[in-house]
Amino acid sequence: SDFQPFLRALPKCEHHMHLEGALSPEVLFKLAAKNNITLPQDDSAFASPESLLARYRRFTSLDDFLHYYYIGMSALITSTDFEDLAWDYFQHASSDGVCHSEVFFDPQAHLSRGISYETVVSGFSRACKRAENELGVSSMLISCFLRHLPAKDCLSVFEQEDVQKRYADGTVQGVGLDSSELAFPPENFVDLYSRAKECGLKLTAHAGEEAPASYIATALKELKVQRIDHGIKLVEDVELMERVAKEGTMLTVCPLSNVVLRCVDTIRDVPVRKLLDKGVKFSINSDDPAYFGGYCLDNYVAVQEAFGLSVAEWESIVRAGIEGSWCGDERKGELL
Ligand code: ADE
Ligand code: ZN
Repeated sequence: SDFQPFLRALPKCEHHMHLEGALSPEVLFKLAAKNNITLPQDDSAFASPESLLARYRRFTSLDDFLHYYYIGMSALITSTDFEDLAWDYFQHASSDGVCHSEVFFDPQAHLSRGISYETVVSGFSRACKRAENELGVSSMLISCFLRHLPAKDCLSVFEQEDVQKRYADGTVQGVGLDSSELAFPPENFVDLYSRAKECGLKLTAHAGEEAPASYIATALKELKVQRIDHGIKLVEDVELMERVAKEGTMLTVCPLSNVVLRCVDTIRDVPVRKLLDKGVKFSINSDDPAYFGGYCLDNYVAVQEAFGLSVAEWESIVRAGIEGSWCGDERKGELL
């Protein structure tokens, strides 16, 4: 669109992307060959990168996507695999005009395959340093816990010595909650979040992506999260929406993801206008760019095509994204 250069030039912050969600079918097949990983032979989607990509265009739900997402990441083995994956993402982000990115990863999805936490984090953190040095993109790593697994297993991973070490040394600075939502409500994770808060970590959780607004209320009240990932169902509860607006809690909205996973029918049904009108802060994010067919800027362009926002509205969205970031005030000052 005509707005694309303007949207690219805005000092954008991304707050909701899963590094494992940057794994394209092409890279997945290359890594599987290199690492001798056998992809499922009973699913014809895995016949070629092209057929896999075609399958991604037909996701029917969050769970349908997650099935492919967890298989995809099984090709990641060495610390260099993780580094290359994150570096590929940061290059895309930089060329989209993203200046600061707070990125998720899923430790439990690797630990369960016998990949050590240190392998994952050392690779990702090398890419973060390189992004800072070579691209001027600042970043932060956020460890997400998988809500479809028992809460006590999440807590014991959190307490692992090698995991705690990377919180203590500042390599990983936050905790999130992701994976299948509806059957796994936030209240299951009160102990995990109270420990994470004691450790001084930043707190966020996916809530109100597929599940109702009550999950957002519980994440705020019981988990004491500082941010809500997705949160599009907030508009179903006007009173809660007014409270979120008043408290200035930011939602990390992912428009293309919501359409591809059928949480909404079209981008027009992402509640961008309602959030703006009620003064709810939100940022615009890619979630799993290799799976949903677009990086950060594609999501901005899609929102502009659907809503035709004004320059002033875009500037206020981007400013809210900078202010809602978890980087220090010095970095925020450079971005503002
Ligand atoms: N893991 C990766 N992307 C996710 C999403 N959009 N919702 C829940 N879990 C996820
Ligand atoms: Zn997500």
